[in-house]
Amino acid sequence: MTALSLPELLTTLRHTVGDTHVLTEGDLSAFEQDWRKRTRGKALAVVRPGNTAEVAAVVKACAQAGVSIVPQGGNTGLVVGSIPDDSGTQVLLSLQRMNAVRHIDAANLAITVEAGCVLQNLQQAAEQAGFLFPLSLGSEGSCTIGGNLGTNAGGTQVVRYGNTRELCLGLEVVSAQGEIWHGLSGLRKDNTGYDLRNLMIGSEGTLGIITAATMKLYPLPAAKLTAWAAVPSVAHAVELLGLAHLHLGAGLTGFEMMGQFALSLVDKHYPQLRVPLWQDTPYCVLLENSDTESEAHARERFEHVLELAFERGCVSDAVVAESLSQARNLWHIRDSITLAQAEEGLNIKHDISLPVSAIPEFVAQTDALLEKEIAGVRLVNFGHLGDGNLHYNVQAPEGSDNAEFLRTQEDRVNTLVYDTVKRFGGSISAEHGVGGLKVDTLPDYKDATALGLMRQIKQALDPQGILNPGRVVRLD
Ligand code: FAD
Ligand code: MLT
Ligand code: ZN
Repeated sequence: MTALSLPELLTTLRHTVGDTHVLTEGDLSAFEQDWRKRTRGKALAVVRPGNTAEVAAVVKACAQAGVSIVPQGGNTGLVVGSIPDDSGTQVLLSLQRMNAVRHIDAANLAITVEAGCVLQNLQQAAEQAGFLFPLSLGSEGSCTIGGNLGTNAGGTQVVRYGNTRELCLGLEVVSAQGEIWHGLSGLRKDNTGYDLRNLMIGSEGTLGIITAATMKLYPLPAAKLTAWAAVPSVAHAVELLGLAHLHLGAGLTGFEMMGQFALSLVDKHYPQLRVPLWQDTPYCVLLENSDTESEAHARERFEHVLELAFERGCVSDAVVAESLSQARNLWHIRDSITLAQAEEGLNIKHDISLPVSAIPEFVAQTDALLEKEIAGVRLVNFGHLGDGNLHYNVQAPEGSDNAEFLRTQEDRVNTLVYDTVKRFGGSISAEHGVGGLKVDTLPDYKDATALGLMRQIKQALDPQGILNPGRVVRLD
């Protein structure tokens, strides 16, 4: 096959998806700039296919031209994985037009949607059909299920329902050669060889382009109870988590911890949200209990947990939401931390996981280390404690230049934090992925054999290296 020149490629792309869906001019910042506004790339073209056959044709044409492709959903990723590099030679493949709900199979508790379906629309489609789709993230109004699968997103319901991986039954994927794998199975059991579905999930667009997915549905809970509790320390938060597991069992659907400084940023930038209890306690916990039986049953068990927690001193004060709208407000406060932090200025983000049992000691040691090394450093510690996942973020000292702080301190801070994570047996990415941000850090913290196997997989599936190169794992 003869190679395509760049002008020939652009002509082919226009012919494939239509002139209006190949963007090369105008303001393309929504596609080329990352969510945190840390990095800006430049695409050869933004291409917006409307169906799977078009995606396959786009990939084939790019392969023929030797042009690499960056798949993009909602562009809410936090690790610089969904934007082009600055070479002006990559195709940015946006899945946003492929947003249909294809099918709901009520008896099989499954829903099939296209990759560009916005998470919130998927949740609403499930609810309209009388079901719950439990994946829930602060970015759910704009992230897509393709991006959620690409990153194996976590969010705030993982403690009960698992990561996106656990919610997926089947995938439709376009390979690096432009072939379509029709894997939209609704099967809960299928041991017919290697698990390609799980290989694709979390591969951040480096092994294939997800065009559709079959996802699990659950019964809607009959009742949901939400409490916001002040806890005297991280160790007390872990003790409360233990009580919640013991007494709520599968009813425990959310367990988030938020440090005082993180909440002070929400209070500062969004005072209308009225953050409860934060001023007099180092940490707060947001706790959710869902019940499929009844409100009364749920309330009895939930109040029992809180009573035990007060007796043991692991909760010093608490508010229980009296209505769905109060509960939503509490979740809104939690989900606003990322935005409040962005308002405060650029910061050093961490997305780490540790055994839950190690978290109190990890936080004590890392807080002390950073405070000793960087006078006045501000620690924005919050996250999904129920999953052992902290966003242990580091903000410049008050009044200093954020960009300068990142330029001079980011590598040093990352080394301090990640070395401690390693000592405690943790991971440097729990849910956001590796992207371009951590690709060169990963080899210092990932098992060398595992990394070697990852390279072999990448080479086998994408020998030309055209799918999201420079993300997750480097081949050179
Ligand atoms: P994008 O950002 O567009 O892409 C992310 C990655 O997936 C890229 O590598 C991209 O190439 C790849 N990709 C996208 N679509 C496809 C596809 N169809 N096929 C193959 N690869 C693809 N993340 C969490 O895990 N938990 C949270 O709680 C959470 N909260 C957030 C809150 C806020 C306010 C923000 C801004 C982000 C948050 N995130 C969270 C990060 C982000 O929303 C998730 O990573 C999300 O899954 C990304 O979805 P997206 O559609 O925006 O993907
Ligand atoms: C969250 O849990 O809010 C997200 O993962 C986003 C973040 O880390 O800021
Ligand atoms: Zn998170």
